[in-house]
Parts: sequence; structure tokens; C-alpha cells
Amino acid sequence: MDTFDLVVIGAGPGGYVCAIRAAQLGLKTALVERDASLGGTCLNVGCIPSKALLESSELFHVMRHKSEAHGIMPASVKLDLPRMLARKEGIVKDLTDGVAVLMKKNKVTVLHGRGVLKGGGKVAVLSDSGEREIAGKSVCLAMGSVPVQLPFLPFDGNRVVSSTEALCFDTVPAHLVVIGAGAIGLEMGSVWNRLGAKVTVVELLPRVAPFADAQMSTFLERALKAQGMVFRLGAKVTSAKVEADGVTVVIQNGKGEEERLACDKVLVAVGRKPCTDTAGLAEAGVALDGGRVTVDDHFQTNLPGVFAIGDLIRGPMLAHKAQDEGVAFAELIAGKPGHVNYDAIPNVVYTHPELACVGLTEEECKAKGLPVKVGKFYFKGNGRAKSLGEDEGLVKVVAHAETDRLLGVHILGARASDMIAEAVLALEMHASAEDLARTCHAHPTLSEILKEAALNVDKRAIHG
Ligand code: NAI
Repeated sequence: MDTFDLVVIGAGPGGYVCAIRAAQLGLKTALVERDASLGGTCLNVGCIPSKALLESSELFHVMRHKSEAHGIMPASVKLDLPRMLARKEGIVKDLTDGVAVLMKKNKVTVLHGRGVLKGGGKVAVLSDSGEREIAGKSVCLAMGSVPVQLPFLPFDGNRVVSSTEALCFDTVPAHLVVIGAGAIGLEMGSVWNRLGAKVTVVELLPRVAPFADAQMSTFLERALKAQGMVFRLGAKVTSAKVEADGVTVVIQNGKGEEERLACDKVLVAVGRKPCTDTAGLAEAGVALDGGRVTVDDHFQTNLPGVFAIGDLIRGPMLAHKAQDEGVAFAELIAGKPGHVNYDAIPNVVYTHPELACVGLTEEECKAKGLPVKVGKFYFKGNGRAKSLGEDEGLVKVVAHAETDRLLGVHILGARASDMIAEAVLALEMHASAEDLARTCHAHPTLSEILKEAALNVDKRAIHG
């Protein structure tokens, strides 16, 4: 039986990054993956293909609705959906093939098959070609998560779908009902809305992106409504009838009235749950808490030598959080001080405008009794935003009222996903609003909006 220093089960961003870092640190490492393609949900059916479609659909929208303002008069703009989907698939293939190359380069042994914990550091790898047992001094569980189903509306892959199928509809639905106004609902809803579908989003809570700063949610809802998306907020789906030619979704809307939404397809995007039932965790006795694998600060489960990272454990289900945990865990078992700062993990929703945030919202600070001062600056006061034709949105900087230490930064606007990186670094370095405000920002850039918002914490923005 082959023995490794580390066996990682699951080749998503948590698992494959963990394997690379472990190999860099000299550990003999195996990576077990049941799918033919590496990269997990993120690369195959999540972050990457959705961003490819968001980009393509945004370009379509710009050509149809925004190009004339630039003096560009397209003769006619037609959608070639199969080509758009093929481009997305090409990007996925390039990146997943790239992960396989990285494994070779780092001398990580990749074993295709379902990994099952067998106790005593052993892992069985089950595939069509049979069963093979390997052993690891440490085993890292990184199997990720799967979409949650609604009990009365199970996925059928055609009319009632998860994000996976919503990435490859072969025609634009006339009416798509999206259940859940979280990241997946808003992003995939945006894609199909831009491509011509009527999109109705039903959300249990009274606002879109409920995790976000309240003002950001309100602005985002307004922007998406202006693009044609329809919202039923504070609404409950009570039942649904799936028929050959469509689905009728019955909801109780925010006013308590019953409403029937007839549509072609329903995207259920009400969250994801950890994938704890594929790797023999129950039989091996791995302890769970609320459906998630219980780990200590060093990713150790209740079983000696067995660790877990990513969507399986506490915290937000985000690829970059899983990657950072993979690196920290590999460093810890290699005797180094691996660490993840859970207070500085950015969260991005890739709508247009984008929503990006890090740290605490103003409401969270108030709930914790933290005295805050807030600085805001709007995109419309920024020269680059005007030149881009992207003057929708704002940046909000939340700082401690007494110490000026940054507590949170919230951005709604074009390219927020890239702009947030500066704020993440500032939080990581325990910076103050004054530090951000005194940092020289290139002109003309959108990043100046962040500087102006930081200046506005003490009401001294220059252009507003
Ligand atoms: P989510 O947890 O972000 O949002 C689900 C939404 O559905 C919530 O707003 C919730 O209130 C609502 N909801 C729950 N039950 C409902 C019901 N019965 N009727 C109506 N609304 C209901 O989950 P989502 O969007 O499915 O994403 C899953 C995970 O994947 C999240 O952890 C998310 O952060 C992650 N993800 C991140 C992305 C990003 O970073 N851009 C993109 C896609 C997913």
C-alpha cells in the first residue's frame, strides 16, 4: 500500500491548493478526486463558468443598450447562445487542465475515484477500475458542498434546476423564477435577464443580498430593478407544480397575498450544504455540528490525523476562504505557523454593479456596541467612473469612532471586486481610515473613491 505524508480528499480550490502548498513544503502528497476534471465546483460549475457568462451577457447588454452613448452604433446585435456556452466551456477546460499541470509540476499524485475514510489513516479510492487503498499520516477532508434542495421542489435538471444547470440552458427561458436573492440567485438571474429572459427573484428576507450592508442592498436592488429584474422580497414559496410545459410557483408575497408565478424554469438558489455523505464520515465517526465537520483552530477533527477545510467546516462557503485554509493547514502540519484571519475575508457578488465587502457592516458594529463613524463617497463624483460611463454606486468606510481603526469597507459599483483588495489589505494590517485617506491613489482611477470615502470619515472629501 502506498503511504503519503498527506492525503487530500477533494480537488476543489481548498483541496488542490492545500496539495500544492504541502508539496512545496516537501510533503509526499496524494489528491483524491471522484470527477475526471480537477478544480471542484469553483472551476467546473461555479465561480469560473458563471463569471464567463456574466462577462459575455454584460457585453451583450452593453452592445444593445450602452454603446450608442459612446458613439458606437452597432448595425444589429444577435445572440449566439451555443457559442457563448462554448466559450465558457473552453475557459473551464483551460483552467481545469491547468490544475492537472500544476499537480504534475508539484509532484502531487492524483488518484481519480471516490475517497472513503477507512480509519487508521487509510483511505479507499473507489473507481470504475476497482478499489485501491492508500495511507496518509494526515488526511485532509476537502469535499466541498452541494446545492440545497427545497423538499417540495426537488431538482429535476430541466424545469427545476440548481446553479449547475443554470450555467447551460440551451435556450433563453421566457420566464425564469429564481428562489433566493443570495450570490447565486443574483448572479445567474443577471445573466439570463441580460440575455432576454424575464427574471423574477423570490426572497424570504426583506432585502436582496441579505448579508450585505443595508444601504448597499437597497442600492443593488434598485440597480437590478432598473435592468428589468423583478423582485418579490419577504416572500415565501408555499408550493409548486411542475408540468411538462412549465412550472407554477405559488408564493405568499410580502403583503401576505398568494401569488402564482407561471414560468419555464425555476432556479433554486437557497444555499449550499457541506458534502458530508460521500466519504464515509459517519462510518468513521467524524463529528459534525449543524451539518458541518467540527474542527479546532488547527483544522483537526475529533479523529486523530483527520482534518477538514473549506465548505465542510465553519465560516462562509467561499473559494478564497477554502484556499487560505488549505495553505494554513498544510503549513501547520509542516510545522509552520499557518493562520487564517477570518475577520478579513472579502465577499463579492458579481452583478452589475458589483457588490464587494470586507469586515463588519455598520449594523453589525452597532449590534456589537462598537462606536462608529462612517465615510461615504459616490461613484458619480469620480472622474474615471464618469469616463467609463460607470457612475452608479458608492463606497462606504466604517471606522471605530475613537481609534479610527477600520472595521469594514463596502463597495457597490463597477470593478468593486478588484477595488476591495486594497480594503482587505488595510484590514489585515489593522490600518486606520486615516491610513487609507493618506495613501496616494493613482489618478484617474476608481480607487480614488475609496480614498475619498476614507477622507469622508472625518467629512473632508475633496470632490464631494
Ligand atoms: P446564499 O446563502 O448566499 O443565499 C440564499 C438566499 O436564499 C438567502 O438570501 C436566503 O434568505 C434565501 N432563501 C432561503 N430559503 C428560501 C426560500 N425557501 N424561499 C426564498 N428564499 C430563500 O446561497 P446561494 O446564493 O445559493 O449561494 C450558496 C453559497 O455559494 C453561498 O455560501 C455563497 O456565498 C457561495 N457563492 C458565492 C459566490 C460569490 O462569492 N460570488 C457566487 C456563488 C455562490
